[in-house]
Amino acid sequence: MLLHPAAFAAFLAAVPSFIAPVAATSSKRGLVFTPNETTRADDGIWVEKPTTLTWYYNYEPKPESSYKDVPQSEFEFVPMMWGAPDSLDNTTFLSTVKSLIKDQGVNITNVLSFNEPDGKFVYGGSNIEPSAAAQVWVNNMIPLQEMGVRVGLPACTGASTGLPWLQNFLTECSKLISTDDDKRNCTYDFVTIHWYGNFEGLASHMGQYSAAFPNKTMWITEYNLNDQNLETTQSFYNMSAEYFDRLDFVERYSFFGAFRSDVSNVGPNGAMLSTNGSLTDIGAWYLGRQATGILPTSKSSGFRLVIPQASIAVLTALLAVAVVSS
Ligand SMILES: *[C@@H]1O[C@H](CO)[C@@H](O)[C@H](O)[C@H]1NC(C)=O
Ligand SMILES: *[C@@H]1O[C@H](CO)[C@@H](O)[C@H](O)[C@H]1NC(C)=O
Ligand SMILES: *[C@@H]1O[C@H](CO)[C@@H](O)[C@H](O)[C@H]1NC(C)=O
Ligand SMILES: *[C@@H]1O[C@H](CO)[C@@H](O)[C@H](O)[C@H]1NC(C)=O
Ligand SMILES: *[C@@H]1O[C@H](CO)[C@@H](O)[C@H](O)[C@H]1NC(C)=O
Ligand SMILES: *[C@@H]1O[C@H](CO)[C@@H](O)[C@H](O)[C@H]1NC(C)=O
Ligand SMILES: *[C@@H]1O[C@H](CO)[C@@H](O)[C@H](O)[C@H]1NC(C)=O
Repeated sequence: MLLHPAAFAAFLAAVPSFIAPVAATSSKRGLVFTPNETTRADDGIWVEKPTTLTWYYNYEPKPESSYKDVPQSEFEFVPMMWGAPDSLDNTTFLSTVKSLIKDQGVNITNVLSFNEPDGKFVYGGSNIEPSAAAQVWVNNMIPLQEMGVRVGLPACTGASTGLPWLQNFLTECSKLISTDDDKRNCTYDFVTIHWYGNFEGLASHMGQYSAAFPNKTMWITEYNLNDQNLETTQSFYNMSAEYFDRLDFVERYSFFGAFRSDVSNVGPNGAMLSTNGSLTDIGAWYLGRQATGILPTSKSSGFRLVIPQASIAVLTALLAVAVVSS
């Protein structure tokens, strides 16, 4: 699935330059990895060169086996603590990340914390009370920060429940590490946001977070304008990518996305892969390449290979019949 660098260089040398990137690259771009067991071959698409993608997360503490041969310096794995563990004193996340760093020599420099803790489980949220999340943070994240790992604030939903949840969380967290004589605040290294909606809403949401957490850089780890027509979706994609690339306080972003249109839960046009697993225009732009012109709903997989041979057989048969009957 993954090309060895040497094999890839040979491949590049052998093909014409039309696959070279024309769009501006952005080192901020990453992959939200959402694999589907029935289409595992698609995993390789995100690490084929040329690509702008420099990092990925998979909602898990451990890296993907599909990407284990890609160096961290090229495609940085960012572990995530998706939700609260079974008990608040469980430090499996901490020990897993420590082991990656110390035993396996994986250069982990950033981690992500809870996924949509203000959201209900049925909608993909991890649904955690701020006080419980604070305890889990103190047990797992603070020791990582002490090791020099940067930690992102939990990624709340784009709803109005997000900011109050985060404020409660920070208050509870600070209580846990403060004493009467020694007041301390829990710290974080960047703010993490999710957004599903139009561009104006996205910009306004980012503005609210900038005001609430001044002077912090931002990662937009899930975003899209879901369930729209293709032109509206592409226009949103273009505007938001240009905006993120231009703003210095946006450190990283990852389009949600990286799946086939027929299994997309953000509508077919928000998917970076067509039904037959080819990059759509948005998919290609996101990787820094030229538009493919392939529609998200395109599903003519394999037709070019199968149909011509079948047609030849059919034609031959027809011809034979024609010859015999004449
Ligand atoms: C994975 O792909 C299969 C086949 O297209 C589909 O039926 C299934 O719903 C997908 N799973 C997810 C979680 O999207
Ligand atoms: C801690 O949580 C992890 C992940 O949620 C789980 O796999 C593990 O069994 C838990 N450990 C203990 C000791 O309960
Ligand atoms: C680990 O990654 C950080 C951030 O990219 C980099 O500054 C550092 O040099 C890397 N360390 C090693 C040992 O590669
Ligand atoms: C903790 O944060 C609060 C709110 O941002 C601030 O008012 C307070 O001064 C901080 N306390 C310390 C000890 O840094
Ligand atoms: C944010 O940074 C600016 C410029 O460095 C500084 O003037 C300002 O005091 C900072 N604000 C906060 C709340 O830390
Ligand atoms: C999006 O940007 C691409 C170039 O990167 C351009 O070809 C396309 O027309 C734009 N689409 C919209 C709807 O803005
Ligand atoms: C998917 O269909 C498109 C449009 O017919 C075609 O260009 C592309 O090669 C197909 N991709 C795959 C992986 O079969």
